[in-house]
Amino acid sequence: MPDNFNAEQLGNLRNTYVSAGHASSTNLYVESARGAVIRDVAGREYIDFAGGIAVMNVGHSHPKVVAAIRDQAEKFTHTCFMVNPYGSAVRLAEKLCRITPGDFPKKALFVNSGAEAVENAVKIARYYTKRPAIIVFENAYHGRTLLTMTMTSRVKPYKFGFGPFAPEVYRMPFGDVIGPEKLKDFFIKHVNPEAVAAVVAEPVQGEGGFIAPPPGYFQELFKICHDNGILFVADEIQSGMGRTGKMFAIEHWEVEPDLITVAKSLAAGLPLSAVVGRQEIMDAVHPGGLGGTYSANPLACRAALAVLEIFEEEDLLKKAQALGKKLKERFEKWQDQFSIIGEIRGLGAMLGLELIKGADKAPAADEAKQLASVCLEKGLVILTCGSYGNIIRILAPLIISDEQLEKGLAILEQGLAQISG
Ligand SMILES: Cc1ncc(COP(=O)(O)O)c(C=O)c1O
Repeated sequence: MPDNFNAEQLGNLRNTYVSAGHASSTNLYVESARGAVIRDVAGREYIDFAGGIAVMNVGHSHPKVVAAIRDQAEKFTHTCFMVNPYGSAVRLAEKLCRITPGDFPKKALFVNSGAEAVENAVKIARYYTKRPAIIVFENAYHGRTLLTMTMTSRVKPYKFGFGPFAPEVYRMPFGDVIGPEKLKDFFIKHVNPEAVAAVVAEPVQGEGGFIAPPPGYFQELFKICHDNGILFVADEIQSGMGRTGKMFAIEHWEVEPDLITVAKSLAAGLPLSAVVGRQEIMDAVHPGGLGGTYSANPLACRAALAVLEIFEEEDLLKKAQALGKKLKERFEKWQDQFSIIGEIRGLGAMLGLELIKGADKAPAADEAKQLASVCLEKGLVILTCGSYGNIIRILAPLIISDEQLEKGLAILEQGLAQISG
């Protein structure tokens, strides 16, 4: 049914009835979206470099995903996996166990959101190790529930005013500034390794600013974890599902995590997340200890099965590698052209531009915000990220056409020229 309200009317309704805390970065009210293009209620089209925050790797309303959801909706939409199970969930579990790194027996758990997957990974790790503590990193983002908000690094907007926080969460620096060898020091100064259930890390930090640690980093971290009986959990919620050119970003470091959390692009927009990991760890919890009413929702499981087929049929890993290469080439050119650009961040098609200003290279957060709004006016949706909000991140659907990509990059280039004065 067409939406008869215009953007102004919808904005007024929203201001009256939707919680102010649930903010949007644009006032683009969506009428429809297809591939890498979003159409608003006025019929204007925008190139989508945000992908609903890393959710639309296969593109909006991919016909195969739509057909799977439609077919499933006609059969049944819910029975509750904890009451009457069904085939799509168990078939998807088998597939995820197969495609996640690690040539050892694995099992999967399905829940709904990324935060819920991280919460469950922590529950499972604590149960298995019988230890309470969790180590996380500076610039980390793991969600908005009480525990995952505690695990998240940035204060505003994620944590401010929401304390007290969950106990037994310890934070250390991330990446090449202070490498994992410092973990040993951390064990002396902050928490005894024998109390630590898991280290939870994003292989490439997402919200924190598209930060990829150097080669060797995770191998070393993983070894320290295992020498101390600590589980290594890779939060692949933003970096996974092909975004970096491999199915899971941690594969770039050839590390096989004990547990992996997956969400976002797993089910092309339907709420589905998973914890996948070593069988003996995943099976440690007593029956009934995990789950939820909507966990393993059948529509979402069917959508995810379609997503995995699309990855194979359309060779999306190769597309992600090619997209990453094109973005990097263009960004390097801009780096010479625009003094506002600092580092090029990220890995594969999970690439970002750091915006800086002045002799001290201070974070140019206002300029990043301005760039996003200039781009929107010109027909491109982009997102910022980073602890200082000064990283422009690209999370375009991997199926974006060359023409759409070129159009989007041309707008971004014009925007950079505009904010550079
Ligand atoms: C790495 C990472 N973990 C967890 C989450 C939380 O996922 P959700 O918003 O689905 O709860 C996100 C969301 O951005 C994320 O990027």
